[in-house]
Amino acid sequence: MNMETSTNTVDIQKAATSKIENTDFNNLAFGQVFTDHMMICDYKDGAWQTPKIRPYGPLEMDPSAKVFHYGQAVFEGMKAFKDEKDQIWLFRPEDNFDRINKSSERLAIPAFPKEHFFAGMEELLKLEKDWIKKGFGNSLYIRPFVIATEAGVSAAPAKEYKFMIICSPAQAYYSGEVRVQFSEKYSRAADGGVGFAKAAGNYAAQFYPTNLAKEEGFQQIIWTDASSHDYLEEAGTMNIFFRIGDKLITAPTNDRILDGITRKSIISLAKEFNIDLEVRRVSVKEIVDAAKNGELKEIFGSGTATVVNPIVGFGHGGEKYDLPKLEDSYAGFFKDKLTKIQYNQAEDKFNWRYLVK
Ligand SMILES: Cc1ncc(COP(=O)(O)O)c(C=O)c1O
Repeated sequence: MNMETSTNTVDIQKAATSKIENTDFNNLAFGQVFTDHMMICDYKDGAWQTPKIRPYGPLEMDPSAKVFHYGQAVFEGMKAFKDEKDQIWLFRPEDNFDRINKSSERLAIPAFPKEHFFAGMEELLKLEKDWIKKGFGNSLYIRPFVIATEAGVSAAPAKEYKFMIICSPAQAYYSGEVRVQFSEKYSRAADGGVGFAKAAGNYAAQFYPTNLAKEEGFQQIIWTDASSHDYLEEAGTMNIFFRIGDKLITAPTNDRILDGITRKSIISLAKEFNIDLEVRRVSVKEIVDAAKNGELKEIFGSGTATVVNPIVGFGHGGEKYDLPKLEDSYAGFFKDKLTKIQYNQAEDKFNWRYLVK
């Protein structure tokens, strides 16, 4: 039997039993285990209904629901951290909220109300607090998403949706050594398209070219601009930074590139610590030349899952290039600064932390 409670704004049904005792927190594959509850909010009759928290479990949907046919779906990725005093923190959650609605707007999905987003997420996190383990690297990955649930295969925006949040405990993410291929043929996004949105289809479209890159010994692709393939834009789930000498360079965001929260945090930290940073187009030629003459010191990706992910080498034009191993890398510097802020172990000058009360 489920226990029913409710707050002013969220209708809560607790799970009768917890899976936590059967979860091995020392051996978590990313995104495989989910917590005991999920948040669901339905959109119907032109309005978002009261958010609900229910025991985690499968959904029943009509096979003609538009999400299955037209991919009308967007999502977010964020994390909760626990500090030494058992307080739970989010990192810049307002930015995730703003971004999911920006993504929704592009996919003709109705905007989700801010009160529902925060009330639903906070109630859910309070219920799942034991799933968030202390210690650097441990976190709870939070996946908000919206899907078009209305039945019917006419190619038009749905009139019914589900906004949901599911959570998965995560350990420090180490993906092994990452080598990237600069894309010369396939594109992730085009001008006027949906690249800036976290639209589900953007990710599906990357799987095939990424599989081809894997066959050639690369783990990921760095996407280039769709028209010329001359400029480096971003990786599959990360923005990307290049260090030439002591200068850091990253591409400006535009309608092809996701406005990453980690990326913009790194830009703020670079300014704070007087690191020479340029936000401008980065050409493939510039990076290949710098690799050849030894000036290319680092490439790293930035994103919620890994925070900062150093890249050990890249491939382009049939050639492979290795990057030097640095003791005092910018990647290590930013990872340290960001994680200390996230785990409430450093001053939060920019007001990025958000306490779950
Ligand atoms: C395509 C893409 N670029 C960049 C990022 C990094 O964004 P953030 O730092 O907000 O996680 C992500 C992950 O969310 C992504 O999916």
